[in-house]
Amino acid sequence: HKRVAILLSGGGSNMVALVDSMTGDHPARPCLVLSNDPNAGGLVRAAERGIATAAVDHRPFRGDRPAFEAELMKPLLAAEPDIICLAGFMRVLTAGFVAHWQGRMLNIHPSLLPKYKGLHTHARALEAGDSEHGCTVHEVTPALDDGPILGQARVPVLPGDTPEVLAARVLEQEHRLYPAVLRRFAADDRTPVFLG
Ligand code: GAR
Repeated sequence: HKRVAILLSGGGSNMVALVDSMTGDHPARPCLVLSNDPNAGGLVRAAERGIATAAVDHRPFRGDRPAFEAELMKPLLAAEPDIICLAGFMRVLTAGFVAHWQGRMLNIHPSLLPKYKGLHTHARALEAGDSEHGCTVHEVTPALDDGPILGQARVPVLPGDTPEVLAARVLEQEHRLYPAVLRRFAADDRTPVFLG
């Protein structure tokens, strides 16, 4: 099996979707869930599933990204992952860190990239009057929310949508899209997955 490390900062619903998909004839298995927030709910949900967890709090590093990443690298290297999935990991990674894992690191972003890189994607889609929105899984390259697209899922924007309602509709699709992309990627198939 390919070994998958998952990095998160929050509740970890995408991590749960990925972990729960890695059973049976799936070519990968989870080896580590790692967070920059020791209190992330996702760590508890991973531990409940019997997965090794670790946390490296970014706050003591006060913006010294290379020093933070040097600590992050320790449990990650020890876990010997073949693939890293960023799943709601809310720290920007340096080019050096990304280069180390180039071609092996995936991210899910809550917009139809190249639209709405960065934060507040749902509010921005609503403000723009878009009729559809969605999520993207892409390979991580040094530029933020850039890199080859491995899959997208689309949802309609509906009358009366708030950022929260729209986010929930997108998140449901994230939970379908990310496992579908990981399954292909772990089988060395980089053909993009398009849903919705
Ligand atoms: C997801 O919507 C993910 O796409 C987004 O954070 C959420 C994490 O939810 N990621 C980003 O915004 C990355 N910049 P989860 O912890 O329940 O998976």
